[in-house]
Amino acid sequence: MDDLKAKYLGQIADAADENALEDIRVSAVGKKGEISLKMRELGKMTPEERQVAGPALNALKDEVNSALAAKKAGLADAALNERLKTEWLDVTLPGRGRPAGTIHPISQVSQEVQALFADLGFSVAEGPQVEDDWHNFDALNIPAHHPARGEMDTFYMHRAEGDNRPPHVLRTHTSPVQIRSMLDHGAPLRIICPGRVYRADYDQTHTPMFHQVEGLAIDKDISMANLKWVLEEFVKAFFEVDDVELRFRASHFPFTEPSAEVDIRCSWDNGQLKVGEGDDWLEILGSGMVHPKVLEAGGIDPADWQGFAFGVGIDRIAMLKYGIPDLRAFFDSDLRWLRNYGFASLDQPNLASGLSR
Ligand code: DAH
Repeated sequence: MDDLKAKYLGQIADAADENALEDIRVSAVGKKGEISLKMRELGKMTPEERQVAGPALNALKDEVNSALAAKKAGLADAALNERLKTEWLDVTLPGRGRPAGTIHPISQVSQEVQALFADLGFSVAEGPQVEDDWHNFDALNIPAHHPARGEMDTFYMHRAEGDNRPPHVLRTHTSPVQIRSMLDHGAPLRIICPGRVYRADYDQTHTPMFHQVEGLAIDKDISMANLKWVLEEFVKAFFEVDDVELRFRASHFPFTEPSAEVDIRCSWDNGQLKVGEGDDWLEILGSGMVHPKVLEAGGIDPADWQGFAFGVGIDRIAMLKYGIPDLRAFFDSDLRWLRNYGFASLDQPNLASGLSR
C-alpha cells in the first residue's frame, strides 16, 4: 500500500495537464483502477485482515482523491495565470467620460436641409470654392460692369502682373453650382448645393465666410406654383411647425426672371422668434424662375425647359431656428459656445423622428 501511495502521489505531482491527471485518476481510483480492484479483494479476506486493510485502503483512496483535486485546482490556477498574463487591461487608464465633441449648428442645419430636400427628391451637388469669373458671374447673367458684381464685395485671387487670364474669385454665392450641374447633367434636374461662400463684409450679421444652400429644379413645366409649394414645405419642415404663411415680394436678381424675395410670417416675443404666427415678416431667401440666359449658359434649351431656383443663408436660418444672436460666434471656436449650441454627434437629422431631435 505504501508503494501504491508513493506511485500515485508521485504521478499526480508530475502531471503536466488535466488530461494526464484524468488518466491517472482512471488508473488509480476509476472503476477498474488499481486501488478500486484492491478494494474489491477485501471480500475475500478474513475479517481480521479486512479490519486492517479496509481503513487503510479507504484512507489511501481519500488521499489520492484529494491529491487529484488539489492538483486539478492548481493546474486551473496556472492556466488562468497564463491567460491573465496575455489578456491584461490597465484599469488605471483615465476613462473617456461623456463624449466632448458636438456637431456645429451649421453642420446640423446643413444636414437638416439636406435630409428634408432629399425627401422632396433633390440630390446634393457641389462645386469649387475658388471659382472662375465666368461661373460665378457671367454665366449667371451678371456681365462685367453689372452693378451686382460691385455689390457682392468679391474677393479676387491674386494674379501675377502681366497675367491677363480672367480672374478667379472666392465664390460669392452657391449659384455657380447651378451652372456646373446643368453642364454636367442636363435637364431634367433637381438639386440643392450647400456650401461656403465669401464676401468682404464683417459685422454682427456678416462674416467674410458664410454658408448658403442653393436650390434648382428644371423640367418641362415647372412654374412659380411649384416653387411656392416647395418653399412652403421646406419652411414648415425646417422650423418644425404645422403651418406657415409665406409672402412673395417682387425683387430683382440677374439670374432669375421673375424674381421674388420670400418672407415668412412670424412674431418676436421677448426676442424669441415664433414662426407661423404674429404680425411681423422675416425675409429668409431669394428665388425666382431661372433666366433663359442662365439655362443657355448651362447648355439647356430654354425653348424646351424651364425651372425655379432659390438661395438661402444657412447661417441665417440656423440663427433664427436656434436663437443664436451673433453670427460671428459661429466661427470663434469658443468651447463654451460650442457645448451650448452644439448637437449630439450620433443624432442624424431625419424627417421621421423630427429634424432637430
Ligand atoms: N445668389 C443669391 C445671393 O447670394 C441668392 C439667390 C437669389 C439665389 C435668388 C438664387 C435665386 O438661386 O434664385 O444673394
